Amino acid sequence: MSKDIKRVAVFTSGGDAPGMNAALRAVVRSGSYHGLHIFGIKRGYEGMIDGDLDRLERSDVSNIIHRGGTFLKTARSERFLSAEGRRQAYQTLVAHDIDACIAIGGNGTFTGAHIMYEEHGIPIIGIPGTIDNDLFGTDYTIGFDTAVNTAIEAVDKIRDTADSHNRVFFIEVMGRHAGFIALNTGIGSGAAYVIIPESSRSIDNLVEELQMNARRKKLFSLVIVAEGSNLGGATQIAQKVQEQIDYYDIKVTIIGHLQRGGSPTAQDRVLASRLGDAAIHGLLEGRKDVMAGIINDKIAYTPFDDAINKTKIPNEDLQRLAEILAM
Ligand code: F6P
Repeated sequence: MSKDIKRVAVFTSGGDAPGMNAALRAVVRSGSYHGLHIFGIKRGYEGMIDGDLDRLERSDVSNIIHRGGTFLKTARSERFLSAEGRRQAYQTLVAHDIDACIAIGGNGTFTGAHIMYEEHGIPIIGIPGTIDNDLFGTDYTIGFDTAVNTAIEAVDKIRDTADSHNRVFFIEVMGRHAGFIALNTGIGSGAAYVIIPESSRSIDNLVEELQMNARRKKLFSLVIVAEGSNLGGATQIAQKVQEQIDYYDIKVTIIGHLQRGGSPTAQDRVLASRLGDAAIHGLLEGRKDVMAGIINDKIAYTPFDDAINKTKIPNEDLQRLAEILAM
């Protein structure tokens, strides 16, 4: 166990994700349990540059486990992209005698953390907090389950009106360059078709499926589109399909930032609690420059370099399942 680490700063950065508050609570409570002094940095790397941080006690994280968003706030920092910005951020840590940091966020956050470690040697452990679930080294990221549940709830509602009017809906979900949210939303909502960046389905194939549905007198359909799909977003795909099938009444819904808010699901709260505690344990064991994740229900630490540069692919069984169940 490392004796050197006493003062730990935690922050949330990048896009917020439901469950970040639960992770912050776990970091503070687990850190306090182990006798550490925990500091909360506001607005991610922006606050680190500006010296915006305060001591967090156990009571400061009461009554937040169920809340969406992040009480420390978050930002996508342009200034941290420069060496000068990172130097100022490091000065803040030195000025407050911070021995180590815990970064809660996604790919961009960990890229910054990795560079910060390489340039200034400050031990940093990451906690995967992003609805996209696109980080290598963890089966799930905090916020993914809530986002999928939110998307499914929205698609269920669209299903009612799509059925009533015999319409085809193209529903776009988030995920940046990855299709995890779309795939799980598609399976969970019983969609007719799922379009994700990781699969090679084409507009022609989609048109064929829709025509086959029409021949079977299935006149309404739900198509889930990942925002990062190679075929374009829901609006573009809908246009291309409409050019080939004129008898369908086509509508587009973009669920958007609705997926980022709301009270975290039980799964996200438990995951966030486990990973918050794992980050503290990792630091006490002398780990640095790694992300704490969960693989096959066990805590696993993955170097930032792998977490950000290796690609996690959506489960191929799930991709097959989505196709089979839609037939
Ligand atoms: O990474 C989370 C995410 O919600 C992505 O799914 C999406 O592409 C992006 O962030 C949107 O970012 P912003 O809220 O900055 O527009």
